[in-house]
Amino acid sequence: MTVDEKLDLLTGTDSMWTKGVPRLGVRRVRMADATMGLREDNVPATAFPAFLCLAATWNREVAAAYGRAVGEEFRAAGIDVLLGPGVNLYRTHHGGRNFEYLGEDPCLAAELVVPYIQAVQEQGVAATVKHFAANNSDWHRSVSNSVIDERTLRERYFPVFEAAIWRAGVRCVMTSYNLLNGEYTAENRWLLTDVLLGDWQFTGLVMSDWAGTWDTEKAFQSGLHLEMPGGKVWAAERLRTLLAAGKLAADELDRKVSRLVEWTLELDAHQAAVASTPHGRCPAHAEVALQTAREGSVLLRNRDGLLPLAPTMKTLAVVGPAACPTPTSGGGAARVAAVDPVSILGAINRLAPAVRLTRGERDDDLKTADAVIVCVGYDAEREREGCDRPFELPWPQVQLIRRCTAANPNTIVVVVAGGGVEMASWIDGTAAVLHAWYPGENGCQAVAEILFGEVNPSGRLPFTLERAWPDAAAFGHYIPEGEAHYADPDYVSQYRPAFDVAYAEGVFGGYAHFDRSGTAPLFPFGFGLSYTTFAYAGLAVRATAEGGAEVRFRVRNTGGCAGAEVAQVYVGDLVATVPRPVKELKGFVKLFLQPGEEREAVVTLERRAFAFYDVATHAWCVEPGEFRISVGASARDLRLNASLTL
Ligand code: BGC
Repeated sequence: MTVDEKLDLLTGTDSMWTKGVPRLGVRRVRMADATMGLREDNVPATAFPAFLCLAATWNREVAAAYGRAVGEEFRAAGIDVLLGPGVNLYRTHHGGRNFEYLGEDPCLAAELVVPYIQAVQEQGVAATVKHFAANNSDWHRSVSNSVIDERTLRERYFPVFEAAIWRAGVRCVMTSYNLLNGEYTAENRWLLTDVLLGDWQFTGLVMSDWAGTWDTEKAFQSGLHLEMPGGKVWAAERLRTLLAAGKLAADELDRKVSRLVEWTLELDAHQAAVASTPHGRCPAHAEVALQTAREGSVLLRNRDGLLPLAPTMKTLAVVGPAACPTPTSGGGAARVAAVDPVSILGAINRLAPAVRLTRGERDDDLKTADAVIVCVGYDAEREREGCDRPFELPWPQVQLIRRCTAANPNTIVVVVAGGGVEMASWIDGTAAVLHAWYPGENGCQAVAEILFGEVNPSGRLPFTLERAWPDAAAFGHYIPEGEAHYADPDYVSQYRPAFDVAYAEGVFGGYAHFDRSGTAPLFPFGFGLSYTTFAYAGLAVRATAEGGAEVRFRVRNTGGCAGAEVAQVYVGDLVATVPRPVKELKGFVKLFLQPGEEREAVVTLERRAFAFYDVATHAWCVEPGEFRISVGASARDLRLNASLTL
């Protein structure tokens, strides 16, 4: 290759393509967003529920089916690279892109992202795990400096990426817009060369986020392979001058070029070997989307068993801005335009045609209805990439909930949003609350099925929901005090000075913070109600030859209908030389049980489940001694405990 050909290869073109080297038969590779379905003009695609809804299913099989369907649609459309999944941890409810990610816990996120990526790539489509790393807020993201100590990065923010690489063999990594400890991630040599390419031996392609690269030389030396979408700082002319001046090393150029060419050829070989029959948007994919919503919607409250609604009811008031049309997704690169989306109102009407529906315009409608369903939340305008959003619901919606609860004790709130919202100020007056996330094109059908008992809810919260924001781990260590969440457009960010976001909570993020502070959350991590009940028994734990443990227990459905329980396994190190969380999720299993049925669950824990990252030795360390193994239905509902000595 000539030097010009090499330099040209390092940047993308036409917004979503690599350039290739046509003279040598190295083809252009085509990319498209994103995690929740194909976002491509003029290609109708299945709009799946929010990725956060997938996290709330706690079901690896659903994750695989979701990934397979998305991968098939990409392959059918001739797209080689899926610009997803996004796996940044949910640090606060404010995060504008939380809906695209998998919640607050590294274990849950890793367990679901692995089958998703495997299934996408089995279709001959390369997946891109993003945004590496520590992009946990979208507020002026391009001047936001995440200040995080190494142990916290290794224990909380890195494991999902590590799992994507080691367990799923992901083919691409995309860097993020933010700075990490003072360096833009695309320019951060420690992050890309030492950790990603060094420690983790990543053999795929490292690309920048779109226009997220600033310094030509630093980015060249960091380990980044490809600048997307075009040559903002790696324009060939600029690189050529720096190369001639000896400021860029020719062998590094060759390394990048070899990687890009090999990666393209590997993709070709992989696609040639995959015998799948790709499908575009089709009924089977719609069914996967629906099943995700069925298993991911989380029932948070059900006073006196008001739900499921009796089929004999005569009148329902269905009110609120999310009743019809119901927002299908948050906004930004992840948003897939839904074809013929189902609304909550439409789905209820279809499922229960005999029930008279009113829109509750008059207080009388609210008072005389058998129940009121208030549909509230956010939408693609107010919850999206490029800004954060408040914890509170918009004030008129809170007033609407109050008006409904004052008029009718049977008020059911359905929340449509990409994360947690403040509930403590209004929840007491309600009879029931269902979190439906962004339901995608048909998830509202699942909402109706849950309300009327055709589906027994089995979703569990993938984050902790605090009563008030000051209770949360990141409170005081988020965007500058006093600023509004809604950011100016991205281009304004460059006129703002960079600001630090100190992750002062360290490894005590999410539920670990609540365990340490002793504050009770409104709803704990892992929580969700069912129409049946479950009992746990018979915990037995034994050490394995590999240095981990095998955990066995039994779960019985003790209620009157079939349902699924998400049994969660937490590990705590009782005596440690470093501060460690009281407990951390290290395994889980979702069990579908008929009434009266009992099953034994077996969860295997690897040695790493007991380790902390020792910054002195740069290695994972298991300190010999006693560990507590707890099994239960949420981070605050531990039913069985055992001790294990390693
Ligand atoms: C987003 C990425 C996305 C890319 C390409 C960026 O603004 O942060 O997630 O993949 O655009 O559309």
